[in-house]
Amino acid sequence: MSDKLIVGNWKMNGGLAANQDLLHAVMAGLSGASCSVAVCAPALYLPQLQQLAAQSALRWGAQDVSAHEQGAFTGELSAAMLREFGVRYAIVGHSERRQYHGETDTVVATKAQRALAAGITPIVCVGETLAEREAGHTEEVVKRQLAAVIHTNGHCISEIVVAYEPVWAIGTGKTASPEQAQQVHALLRAQLKAATAQAQRIALLYGGSMNAADAASLLAQTDIDGGLIGGASLKAADFLSIVAAASH
Ligand code: PGA
Repeated sequence: MSDKLIVGNWKMNGGLAANQDLLHAVMAGLSGASCSVAVCAPALYLPQLQQLAAQSALRWGAQDVSAHEQGAFTGELSAAMLREFGVRYAIVGHSERRQYHGETDTVVATKAQRALAAGITPIVCVGETLAEREAGHTEEVVKRQLAAVIHTNGHCISEIVVAYEPVWAIGTGKTASPEQAQQVHALLRAQLKAATAQAQRIALLYGGSMNAADAASLLAQTDIDGGLIGGASLKAADFLSIVAAASH
């Protein structure tokens, strides 16, 4: 990977006025950036992003996508619908969706497939809980989560983005050390290499309390191609510091 990719995950935060302020501040700070930058907003605000960011380098994405193509699935949003609003990315399998919405590895793999079919890049999240790490199961867990996506998507796997997000690091202020993150990224890269000759061009993002202070050391690791940023993406200055760290 040459260009790094920095993606903000706003989660269920924001509103019309706050989004506008944040977007204007972020877009104003992007002129010197030499990496790709996107924000994933609550789906209701995607038309707002399309309107405000269309002329800028900023890309936008959704935080989820339906595993179904269309039909009687009340409350769901299809990949084709998201694509109509210029969506480039869709986060799939975020640990909050796995935990609170019961998403299985199979569902996550199908969501990635729906996104790809609509021309949207899925950002597939994998990561272990603290209990799994302490029990020595990190490798087994992340490999199982990624294997399901590889199995369902075959050669299209070269079009995905993967985010390693240790659950114990998300929203806790406990960022994984660069060594801990690199170790898992190297495992994921090896798994992708076994599945596709294009593995080197798949962006592997780190996510979990990444912030202005620790971004540079994480992004310096061989297999860390960018970041998926939650809390720090809600403050323009913090988000832009991470973008700057990724632009070196
Ligand atoms: P955090 O969230 O940066 O607030 O830890 C990352 C994420 O959940 O994507």
